[in-house]
Amino acid sequence: PFTVELHRSGRVVEVAATESALTAVRRELPNTPYSCEQGFCGTCQHRVLSGDIDHRDTLLTDGEREDSMLLCVSRAASDRLVLDL
Ligand code: FES
Repeated sequence: PFTVELHRSGRVVEVAATESALTAVRRELPNTPYSCEQGFCGTCQHRVLSGDIDHRDTLLTDGEREDSMLLCVSRAASDRLVLDL
């Protein structure tokens, strides 16, 4: 498990081991868009302001991986990620 901080509101959501970051974020922000939920469409891509990302998608370029993630499949490699949301 890890936590995601939503930068614009300062809200913090817990992401359980059994759920995606997308699912957890949508509890706070139900309008957060998504489509495939399998890491290939890019709809759920968001900027990450801090924290280490555990990328599990097949879509993003190395450059994009520097500061963004796909919320439906990727997770945190640190205790907390801060998202530009
Ligand atoms: Fe398609 Fe996340 S919803 S990549």
